[in-house]
Amino acid sequence: MRRTNSEEPIALHAYKDYAEQYVNVNEISPFRLYYERPTLLKLLPGVSGKHVLDAGCGSGWLCEYLISQGADVSGVDVAPEMVKMARCRLGDTANIIEANLGEPLDFAKDAAFDLVVSSLTLHYLRDWRVFFAEIHRILVDDGRLVFSVLHPFNPQAFKKRKEYYATELYDHRCSSGYDSPIDLPLYRRSLTEILRPLGETGFLIEGVVEPTPTEECKKHHPDIHQRLLQCPLFLCVRAVKHCIGGK
Ligand SMILES: C[S@@+](CC[C@H](N)C(=O)[O-])C[C@H]1O[C@@H](n2cnc3c(N)ncnc32)[C@H](O)[C@@H]1O
Repeated sequence: MRRTNSEEPIALHAYKDYAEQYVNVNEISPFRLYYERPTLLKLLPGVSGKHVLDAGCGSGWLCEYLISQGADVSGVDVAPEMVKMARCRLGDTANIIEANLGEPLDFAKDAAFDLVVSSLTLHYLRDWRVFFAEIHRILVDDGRLVFSVLHPFNPQAFKKRKEYYATELYDHRCSSGYDSPIDLPLYRRSLTEILRPLGETGFLIEGVVEPTPTEECKKHHPDIHQRLLQCPLFLCVRAVKHCIGGK
């Protein structure tokens, strides 16, 4: 039996209030352009002709990239404001669905996707076992899951922790690039709690990467480049759906 989790998504209100600001900052943020995105994209398998789901698609930059690489793309996001922006950006080139990734993914049939990608979204979900079990169901055999997420040693998250091994909800303050700081509620979890649920739900881990800033970052933002070398902000993971019996 599939487990359900009927809690209201923690990100819903924040993204209702800050969607436009968030998108404006993120489209050009050095932390995304020169750090998280290049690392995540390097972990992707070939996507041409593949069915790909962007889980937590936001305003759709990753969907747009995947489409440009020849993928057949669906995106899902819980925030109506984000869904609206993604639909406006992508028109009929992608199927954008409004749904909660913390619930069973009833919009997708078994083995509907070759690849699920998720950029900086999973830290809004408390129970990753529910999510990974659903991703396992909707992936083909040998399908891949690639995601980026808050690093357990992200300086702000680590500073606010009460107990390293517990999964803790805290307000993450975003200030760089914003007119006034915004607080986003996030779950910080240990490295074990990031990786263990993958094995428990039938995935094999193929890669775990701590991003490092690119040379462009050094050129355009030497101060940020230096900061990113001192401490990681995010973690990127690639896993494959494990086929029982070694198929
Ligand atoms: C940090 S933004 C990242 C958006 C996009 N992946 C990007 O890279 O720009 C996180 C996104 O996750 C979405 N999100 C948060 N919780 C969610 C949930 N429970 N189900 C679906 N989407 C969720 C938010 O609405 C938001 O668009």
